[in-house]
Amino acid sequence: MTDIFRLDGKTALVTGAGTGLGQHFAQVLARAGARVVIAARRSEKLAETESLITAAGGEAFAVSLDVRSASNISTAFDAAESRFGAVDILVNNAGLGGKTELVDYQEAKWDAIFDTNVKAAWLLSTELIRRSRQGDSSSISIVNIASILAVGAKFGLGPYMASKAAIVQLTRAMALEWGDSGVRANAISPGYFLSEMTEGLFDTPEGRAMQERIPVRRIGDLHELSGPLLLLASDASTYMNGSVVTVDGGHLCRTL
Ligand SMILES: NC(=O)c1ccc[n+]([C@@H]2O[C@H](COP(=O)([O-])OP(=O)(O)OC[C@H]3O[C@@H](n4cnc5c(N)ncnc54)[C@H](OP(=O)(O)O)[C@@H]3O)[C@@H](O)[C@H]2O)c1
Repeated sequence: MTDIFRLDGKTALVTGAGTGLGQHFAQVLARAGARVVIAARRSEKLAETESLITAAGGEAFAVSLDVRSASNISTAFDAAESRFGAVDILVNNAGLGGKTELVDYQEAKWDAIFDTNVKAAWLLSTELIRRSRQGDSSSISIVNIASILAVGAKFGLGPYMASKAAIVQLTRAMALEWGDSGVRANAISPGYFLSEMTEGLFDTPEGRAMQERIPVRRIGDLHELSGPLLLLASDASTYMNGSVVTVDGGHLCRTL
């Protein structure tokens, strides 16, 4: 039965794979048998991910990519395809945060957040769809990484929250428009996990109080995202399309 989660023979592309959730996702996909293209801007971080995957017996290929650039994306897909063949699984994970009150936000920072968290997923996914239309798209799975902040609200995180709400709706648009060609698009909405983005957030009085409000009384461990990722990436979820899977220890249940 666990075979339905296997990804042997498939090629996955994970953005932001040099750190945090993306590094973990890349390892999980490789362990499940996929050849994994790992993409981000910092080559030294990608080299770490590549070593972790190859040391565990997996296959990884690092490509330099700024997800905000359409031409960069096209070049990255060319490199990925020439190394591992057509991409079957795309994890749009690269993301950018930032905490500032709305009136103080700089326009450039707003644009960087939306370009990284929303536009990039559209650019990458449409590049994949255009390429797949020249071949067989029946097994493509797109997994977008949203956040519980797509629904919940936190002071000073306006543009991030808005961008994550946008990626949820973009996921649904992908599901609607591409479902008839067998492409599936779903999202994972993580609660809080330790990464570069959240570094320093949890070991403060405010951070500890926040963890007390999570029903399970702790932040998540990266391995607790493995099952949801494999579910959405694999044939275990062939009838899931446009779904948003929340992985937050019940954090969003705490509305009052
Ligand atoms: N950690 C959490 O608690 C949490 C909760 C909910 C959702 N998320 C989401 O999970 C995803 C991963 O975040 P994380 O927590 O793992 O944070 P992270 O460690 O900061 O990872 C973000 C990654 O995105 C990459 N990236 C940023 N801008 C990029 C660009 N223009 N082009 C290519 N890559 C870019 C970065 O690599 P380079 O700088 O090398 O390019 C970095 O490795 C994000 O979408 C985030 O919003 C995280």
